[in-house]
Amino acid sequence: MAQAAKPSKTVTLSDAGSGKKMDLPIIDGTVGPSVIDIRKLYAGLGYFTYDPGYMATGSCESKITYIDGDKGVLLYRGYRIEDLTEKSDFTDVQYLLLYGELPDKKQKEVYRALITNHTMLHEQVRRFYDGFRRDSHPMAILCGVVGAMSAFYHDSLDVNDKEHRRISSIRLIAKIPTIAAWAYKYSLGQPFIYPRNDLRYSENFLHMLFAVPCEEYKISPILSRAMSKIMILHADHEQNASTSTVRLAGSSGANPYACIAAGIASLWGPAHGGANEAVLNMLNEIGSKKNIPEFLKRAKDPNDNFRLMGFGHRVYKNYDPRAAVLRSSCHEVLDELGVKNEPLLELAMELEKIALEDDYFVKRKLFPNVDFYSGIIFKAMNIPMSMFTVLFAVARTTGWIAQWNEMMDDPQQKIGRPRQIYTGYPERPYVAIEKRG
Ligand code: CMC
Repeated sequence: MAQAAKPSKTVTLSDAGSGKKMDLPIIDGTVGPSVIDIRKLYAGLGYFTYDPGYMATGSCESKITYIDGDKGVLLYRGYRIEDLTEKSDFTDVQYLLLYGELPDKKQKEVYRALITNHTMLHEQVRRFYDGFRRDSHPMAILCGVVGAMSAFYHDSLDVNDKEHRRISSIRLIAKIPTIAAWAYKYSLGQPFIYPRNDLRYSENFLHMLFAVPCEEYKISPILSRAMSKIMILHADHEQNASTSTVRLAGSSGANPYACIAAGIASLWGPAHGGANEAVLNMLNEIGSKKNIPEFLKRAKDPNDNFRLMGFGHRVYKNYDPRAAVLRSSCHEVLDELGVKNEPLLELAMELEKIALEDDYFVKRKLFPNVDFYSGIIFKAMNIPMSMFTVLFAVARTTGWIAQWNEMMDDPQQKIGRPRQIYTGYPERPYVAIEKRG
């Protein structure tokens, strides 16, 4: 059960117009900036706050993930992302995000068995795929099929029942790789590959993506380790757009399948998870090092809506630690796969170098983010571009589920309902049709 953080001191707000004053409590977290609790502001002074894009608004209390954007630090439950990618696998990290602690051997075994026993989909779900065009974007399929899962698992839809929440959480984490891999297989016109319970999470995902029934598929330990690392790096990232979407959808009591489908939809945009696909498109468009200055010029032009994809972040004002891990993994994976002189990696590194020295990027503290290097690794792993954001969604499902469960357990949870500044017409008399125009 979440425990409400206690106020430590207050800040006084005085309204020069009305002469009214109000003390607002300041709440401290364990680390990071403190927050002003404005919940009673409207009752006290008659004002709402205005914060489009939530630039300075905390929407919930959470114990899962912490980001220090100035230092470029990312912690899951207090553990540094660099340690987790180096020393843990994705199953460890799933357990950590869901239950708060790294599992011991027995706990890990039990959890892994639980997940592997739920990897199959209801056989009727297969038929959904036939309804999609072959050239559908796999994110469209993922969004649709995950949303439709609530039509199949009626035994776990009561969000007020802890056991229902537990079983639907496990189902979502276990089945999302199967749904994602089948979306890919469908686009190729290849037979769907069923999950194999003797394989680990990342291995099984690779198997369902790349195996075919007519020959044996050997899972490369290098690729499965790289996939596990990528999954760890993408697993959670506190209250980003898609996680906030999952929480907002869940705050009305919607079932978890619907909430995760909403999260997938939000992730799809190029400013969020869709950036990994957009980075590769951009690198292909830039084509060669000599064209970099022209694209940088466009990125800096306020009248051009082109942005350097994979650069910049709302919270990180320093190098995204996930990008740092991926940058070195990129070299490892390419070396081990025997890919010599990947031109896109060379182009990306040159672009990074030039951008990081450019005044525009320096002043605005724009650094490479997680999406800048992930696409190059995915490409080396033979994963098609349209699947990049799908992979992000598969990994982030664990974070979404952890955040959704935390919210459902939080006694302070309320339906999410922002206010607005209304700038339209005040009330006016109705105009009959013959008098309009
Ligand atoms: N290229 C050029 N200029 C940029 C970029 C960029 N990639 N990102 C930000 N800026 C400029 C922006 O124009 C603005 O300049 P000015 O102050 O002169 O108006 C300033 O930097 C601040 O940008 P902002 O849009 O106010 O910042 P934000 O926090 O609202 O946006 C962002 C964050 C990630 C949406 C944005 O940096 C961006 O669009 N980046 C490219 C897309 C991308 O890589 N997204 C992946 C994010 S990380 C993975 C994830 O969480 O999904």
